[in-house]
Amino acid sequence: MKFFVDTADVAAIAELNDLGMVDGVTTNPSLIMKSGRDITEVTKEIAEMIEGPVSAEVVALEADAMVAEGRKLAQIAPNIAVKVPLTWDGLKACRQLSSEGHTVNVTLCFSANQALLAAKAGASFISPFIGRLDDINLDGMQLIADIRQIYDNYDFETEILAASIRTVNHAFEAARIGSDIMTAPPEVIRKMAQHPLTDKGLEAFLKDWEKTGQKIL
Ligand code: E4P
Repeated sequence: MKFFVDTADVAAIAELNDLGMVDGVTTNPSLIMKSGRDITEVTKEIAEMIEGPVSAEVVALEADAMVAEGRKLAQIAPNIAVKVPLTWDGLKACRQLSSEGHTVNVTLCFSANQALLAAKAGASFISPFIGRLDDINLDGMQLIADIRQIYDNYDFETEILAASIRTVNHAFEAARIGSDIMTAPPEVIRKMAQHPLTDKGLEAFLKDWEKTGQKIL
């Protein structure tokens, strides 16, 4: 499973990248706002730091304007994935930008039918939002499973990018179902390393080690 990091926080991306944990980065207008930085400047910095795709999102609502914004965002770096929303105009923009050779991430996907349309429109990535479905008491993970089945039925090449990952269980379930990629905030990826039995075991080992009076270095 590929790991994308869902943030525009350059320092957090750099730390995970040094660990080999970053296969890509996703941003959105809210994450750019949170970074407090200029979209072009921060996206360029991230795209130069990592090898994989860096999603940068359009904000226009009409297809032609989305295409124009997408072309501009794509000029920031060769590894930019243009993110367009899953609206009818977004699908038109996806088709056009994909046909021009741009990588397109179709975002704000909340149904399997939407994901089917995005694949037909040539999306490189489809971003189903798990956490936001769970927020309204729907089953975000079932959506990932449904899309997986549909894409496999017809050998669609669009990659499933499980998004709006809020918990370590989301990460585990998305991997178990066979999502191609997950995009998660840095803190969720860090939490995946934690286990209380690891901490407890380490504490016991260190206590016993102290009793031996030995040193390794
Ligand atoms: C995905 O590309 C989005 O940026 C992100 O996963 C949204 O997550 P949220 O629902 O936690 O804001």
